[in-house]
Amino acid sequence: MDPVNQQNSRGKLIHVDRPVVTKSLSPELDLIKDSKLRQQVVDAFSLCCDMGGYESPDDIPTEVFEQLPGFSNTRHQRETARIAYAMVKELNGLGAGLNEDYVVAGAIAHDVGKGVEWKNNQPGILTNINPSGAGTFYGENPNMPPLPNETHASYQIARHSVWGFYIAMTVGMPEHVAHIILAHSLEGNLYLRTREAIVVKEADEIWWEQIAHQAYGKWPDVDSPFEKGKVYRKRVLDWKRGPE
Ligand SMILES: [Fe+2]
Repeated sequence: MDPVNQQNSRGKLIHVDRPVVTKSLSPELDLIKDSKLRQQVVDAFSLCCDMGGYESPDDIPTEVFEQLPGFSNTRHQRETARIAYAMVKELNGLGAGLNEDYVVAGAIAHDVGKGVEWKNNQPGILTNINPSGAGTFYGENPNMPPLPNETHASYQIARHSVWGFYIAMTVGMPEHVAHIILAHSLEGNLYLRTREAIVVKEADEIWWEQIAHQAYGKWPDVDSPFEKGKVYRKRVLDWKRGPE
């Protein structure tokens, strides 16, 4: 694919073909009624691809990419958006009065920072050695100190939820949507989530529990790969070539 230089909503040059991004997020992208917000979601993934060196959002892996090759990050985003959309529709049917566009946009973009956390073909280790116990990719980064006793892993600058917040604000998303992206993960436990952010967090978590683990073949007896204090898959990963 020939990279195409285009301008996003903030005038920054990007290198990913906008129709490629739109296609990778469809048809769920059309659940967002506001055309400007739809465009900002596309801009967010364009910027993510630019920062992470991906030619398409479909190339960004999930944590389970080794076990489930078909489970790209965009598949997770789209299916989480469908779950969140169903939830917010039901809640609003009961009179909750939530912003449906914010929920869908926040859900479809909640992991947009993963393409920056895990740059394309960047060596690193996938482990849960951080204090929260969450599965985290520690990529090799010459600008950051190396992890002790590791040759292909460095301290992280930030996790994907923080990169996602940066991207959301950069492309001019509403601050409420940026909050949903920032608060979807464990970091959000540190402050109050809006009700829209709670819907996205729950949709995200139920996807992992019911879809990924089930497809992995271990659900319902699965041991969570994110069990605190347990180092798992602690080896060098290469998205294109697979594990060493
Ligand atoms: Fe997620």
